[in-house]
Amino acid sequence: MISLKIWPRNSLLFGQRILGNLTQNGTCLSYSSTGSNSQDMEYAFEMACSNIRYGPGVTKEVGMDLQNLGAKKVCLMTDKNLIKLPPVKVAIESLERHKVNYKIYDTVRVEPTDQSFKDAINFAKANDFDAYLAVGGGSVLDTCKAANLYASNPKADLLDYVNAPVGKALPVTHTVKPLIAVTTTAGTGSETTGVAIFDYLPLKAKTGIASRAIKPTLGIVDPDNLRTMPERVTAYSGLDVLCHAIESYTAIPYQNRGLRPANPNLRPAYQGSNPISDIWCRHALQMTSKYLKRAVYDSNDTEARSAMHLASCYAGVGFGNSGVHLCHGMSYPISGLVKSFRSKDYSDDHPLVPHGLSVIITAPAVFNFTASACPERHIEAAQMLGGDTRKIKNADAGKYLGDLLRKIMLDVEIPDGLKALGYTSRDVPSLVKGTLPQHRVIKLAPKPTKEEDFADMLEKSMKIY
Ligand SMILES: NC(=O)c1ccc[n+]([C@@H]2O[C@H](COP(=O)([O-])OP(=O)(O)OC[C@H]3O[C@@H](n4cnc5c(N)ncnc54)[C@H](O)[C@@H]3O)[C@@H](O)[C@H]2O)c1
Ligand SMILES: [Zn+2]
Repeated sequence: MISLKIWPRNSLLFGQRILGNLTQNGTCLSYSSTGSNSQDMEYAFEMACSNIRYGPGVTKEVGMDLQNLGAKKVCLMTDKNLIKLPPVKVAIESLERHKVNYKIYDTVRVEPTDQSFKDAINFAKANDFDAYLAVGGGSVLDTCKAANLYASNPKADLLDYVNAPVGKALPVTHTVKPLIAVTTTAGTGSETTGVAIFDYLPLKAKTGIASRAIKPTLGIVDPDNLRTMPERVTAYSGLDVLCHAIESYTAIPYQNRGLRPANPNLRPAYQGSNPISDIWCRHALQMTSKYLKRAVYDSNDTEARSAMHLASCYAGVGFGNSGVHLCHGMSYPISGLVKSFRSKDYSDDHPLVPHGLSVIITAPAVFNFTASACPERHIEAAQMLGGDTRKIKNADAGKYLGDLLRKIMLDVEIPDGLKALGYTSRDVPSLVKGTLPQHRVIKLAPKPTKEEDFADMLEKSMKIY
């Protein structure tokens, strides 16, 4: 049973054993589980992120990095499109210049599945790699994290480390090999996180692995790698940044997530909103508002694309420690149950709903639903997205943010709702069924969610304009 409590202004101290979350105007809004002993509740949060190197041209340094690590046999992972493009060519030249021995796996599936993960894991197991180099978007980076994780512990079953309730969510206790992640999209923030997402075919919904143990040793954010990023990939991955940042910013505060773990090792990567994640997410929203449209429609706008690359990294640091909630929770079956939808600029060998599109499509309905739990945060998010919020009342926060998102979506030509992706009202029950097991994220929503709420949000997302 959840109840809302108001706490006095001075009740938030980092790591203090109390319940409370200070809002900007000094009021403390928090949920507490009635009946629980507050001494047992979570009272701390922890920040983890990869080392990050940012700069135009830094991809050419990776050979030296791997030499510095003493790597003798490197696994270079990418996809069949990127293998032909400059980001991978520059990485290969660097490996060769520094005489690093490597082997290429270039058949990563765009929007990976359990099957495609297994294929990459088998490749890694069959070779005795001592380091990994991933060059690509989230699909490549996530696949490489999984290959490294399971090849470093060959007896583990795929579901051992997968989030519960789909998998066993075992803690990773073995050491994985160094992984350098060169990101070629401005979206997932995967270069910063210990998260690897895949479509679990038996469920027809995505799930993932979340462990600090698999975060890359080094994330390379080289804006030169975005020169070839196509228009649709820029639009969809950019809206993924926006969802990461707003979902993180409006997630349940870390103190209210529930009981604290018995061992600090068991504190999840996704901990709920917290003051440090908030900072990164605020910046990511301001930058997305300023630069997304320019980045989408002008591939020569280096300023805008470089800023979006940083924004995706900022949002990654933010949500990688706080988490995402309902847009992502519902996106997993929206991607997994895809019928025949294909998008220009994405791999054309199978139907797919690009990740960023699958998350943004429900965003207006989601934030309209969650706003009542923390209206100030929704208003602040709208303000950071450029909205004039001076006269917006708390009761109108959800509608205002939803309308603003619709405008941003229209600006970058997002298809008109789930209908445009091939879904009808008849699909709502299966979309809800695929959302319910996504505990890791849906439990981070700022208010409890029932089956009917998901059905309602999905129905309201059939058409968005
Ligand atoms: N690990 C995380 O924290 C995290 C977070 C969000 C999403 N994801 C996952 O990441 C995946 C989506 O990743 P994404 O949005 O980065 O896209 P992606 O990796 O799926 O790539 C999309 C397409 O763009 C192409 N592409 C990528 N970079 C390019 C470039 N610079 N030039 C030309 N073409 C380029 C790819 O070849 C591919 O065809 C999904 O599976 C999603 O679930 C992971
Ligand atoms: Zn995402």
